[in-house]
Amino acid sequence: MHSLRNCFCGQWSSNARLDEKTVIITGANTGIGKETARDLAKRGARIIMACRDLERGEWAREEIVEDSGNQNVVLKKLDLSSTKSIREFAELINKEEKQLNILINNAGVMLCPYSKTADGFEMQIGVNHLGHFLLTFLLLDLIKRSAPARIVNVASVAHTWGGIQLDDINSEKGYNARRAYGQSKLANILCTRSLARRLQGSGVTVYSLHPGVVRTELWRHLSVPVQLAVRVFSACTKTSSQGAQTSIYCAVDPALEEESGGYYSDCAPARCSRAARDDEMAEKLWELSGQMLGIQWD
Ligand SMILES: NC(=O)c1ccc[n+]([C@@H]2O[C@H](COP(=O)([O-])OP(=O)(O)OC[C@H]3O[C@@H](n4cnc5c(N)ncnc54)[C@H](OP(=O)(O)O)[C@@H]3O)[C@@H](O)[C@H]2O)c1
Repeated sequence: MHSLRNCFCGQWSSNARLDEKTVIITGANTGIGKETARDLAKRGARIIMACRDLERGEWAREEIVEDSGNQNVVLKKLDLSSTKSIREFAELINKEEKQLNILINNAGVMLCPYSKTADGFEMQIGVNHLGHFLLTFLLLDLIKRSAPARIVNVASVAHTWGGIQLDDINSEKGYNARRAYGQSKLANILCTRSLARRLQGSGVTVYSLHPGVVRTELWRHLSVPVQLAVRVFSACTKTSSQGAQTSIYCAVDPALEEESGGYYSDCAPARCSRAARDDEMAEKLWELSGQMLGIQWD
């Protein structure tokens, strides 16, 4: 049933405009992030594409400018596997931008072989969770000053694949790529809930989502048989443009203005796992993430 719904989920239809708004999208050079950037550019926003590969990012930027007719699309370097790069990016944004109305934490890696970020974190938790956690922390004052504002965290139904290993978050005692990806996506949902609680009354709302099963480069680390199976069943998967619709909906839909902390799929509220609603664990993870990154939230 879910995959059938995937097949038929087309464009999210809304004429809502974003003129005068500024949006940051991480991992905007390809896949879901690129299609999100393209759509929001067409709505008139200033788009900041935060990408680690500036050459690929520039190709995507030029395509989006040409397609949308919006010249206000810029590219900035951001490597979420390096806290130094995240700090440099945030410093630049805080210095140069007057406002930040929408932050879309979209970039991600899935099922990669065991590797570590520049700061020694396991790559999937490091990029998908800790990198975006630090980025959000560093941009939060600007976002609050720009309220009403939104933060959108692209999570996944894969949050059901693994729990939070508080005593081994970096998988040093043993690495299972599937569990580590699941842990990172569970962390995205838990932190969405924690952040929403902290931001109550600030005019900044937070959302997490599952984009669907989407044909993108995310699948690059899957084994050949699994990649073939994905191709065979491609009719039951989404294009990148279809996969971007729930991100766009969470970033734009006026009906969500009073909602915060929720999880969405197919442009509608969705039910996440019990582990993803465990607010006690969410607080423990929040604490641990802050310690790992050496940051202290107010
Ligand atoms: N595709 C699916 O079926 C699916 C399902 C559920 C959830 N999601 C989530 O959707 C989001 C987007 O994924 P996608 O499917 O569009 O995948 P994708 O096509 O592989 O795009 C991922 C983006 O993240 C960027 N990225 C990876 N590591 C980075 C780093 N260290 N620093 C900065 N950017 C980095 C990539 O940059 P490069 O191009 O330089 O590698 C790329 O722009 C991810 O969070 C993913 O977990 C996807």
